[in-house]
Order: sequence, then C-alpha cells, then structure tokens
Amino acid sequence: MEKTFAMVKPDGVKRGLIGEILKRYESKGLNLVAAKVIWPSLDLLQKHYEEHKDKPFYNDLIRYMMSGPVFAMVLEGDNAVKIVRLLNGPTKIEDAQPGTIRGDFCTNTTFNIVHGSDSLESAKREILLWFPEYANKI
Ligand code: PPS
Repeated sequence: MEKTFAMVKPDGVKRGLIGEILKRYESKGLNLVAAKVIWPSLDLLQKHYEEHKDKPFYNDLIRYMMSGPVFAMVLEGDNAVKIVRLLNGPTKIEDAQPGTIRGDFCTNTTFNIVHGSDSLESAKREILLWFPEYANKI
C-alpha cells in the first residue's frame, strides 16, 4: 500500500469542489487517512515548491497558492501516487481530457485546482511537510 499527498487548491475550495474531488479519489478505491483545511504560509509553500523556484511561473504559483485555504490530504491505496495523478489529469490544461478532474473543472493551467505528489519520494517529503504528525507513520 502506498501513501500519497494530494491537495484541493484555493480555487477548488472556493468553488465548493472538495466533496466532488474527494468522491473521485474514494470511488476509485483510495482511502483518506489524514486531511485538513489550511491557509498555507509563504514558508510552507516555498518549501513545498522548492524545486520550481527558478521557473518563470513560480511567483504566480506562490501568489495563487496563498490566495485562500486549501484542502490537504493523505490518501492510501495500491499505486496511490500514480492513480491520483491520473485522476487529476495533466498539468497543461490543453492536454487534460474530459473525465479527469482538471479536464472537467478548469480552463487555465495556473488555476488547475488540484495537486498530487509526482513520485513516492515527493509523497514522503510532502506528507512530512504538511502533516509532520505523520513522521513515525510513513
Ligand atoms: S515543470 O516545469 O514541468 O517542472 O512544471 P510542472 O511539474 O508541470 O509544474 C510544477 C508546478 O507548477 C505548476 N505550474 C504552474 N503554475 C502556474 N502557472 C503555470 N504556467 C504553471 N505551470 C505549472 C503546476 O501546477 C505544478 O504545481 P502542482 O501543485 O504540482 O500542480
């Protein structure tokens, strides 16, 4: 069983999509093992997006992620990392097919409503960052 970190981003929370998105993860067979609504600090986001700090979109991304609360969660199940990424759909919105969360609910790559860890290593790092109380459980 794998654990992964996922998040409904500020626009997803504002649009009332937490329930819809969680339903998709749970209906697929993933179990929610931790969750919280949190308005992330600059420090937390700088750590979370550390590897992207030199990208041209970095400042827009941080500003967007600080614009309101997010729904942060840990999901568990077979192939959880890959499955969440498949359900979310590709980052670039023009590639996101209907049937995926991004393909069904967004039109803009910046406001792309969900995040999912991109590897098992990222999942471990992100779970510890957002849920430090899980330190001895992953
Ligand atoms: S890259 O360049 O391929 O490494 O980028 P990628 O892994 O696809 O995306 C890294 C995170 O940045 C977000 N992103 C953007 N934000 C704002 N504007 C633009 N144009 C943009 N492009 C990518 C993307 O959603 C990733 O964040 P998460 O939270 O992982 O979805």
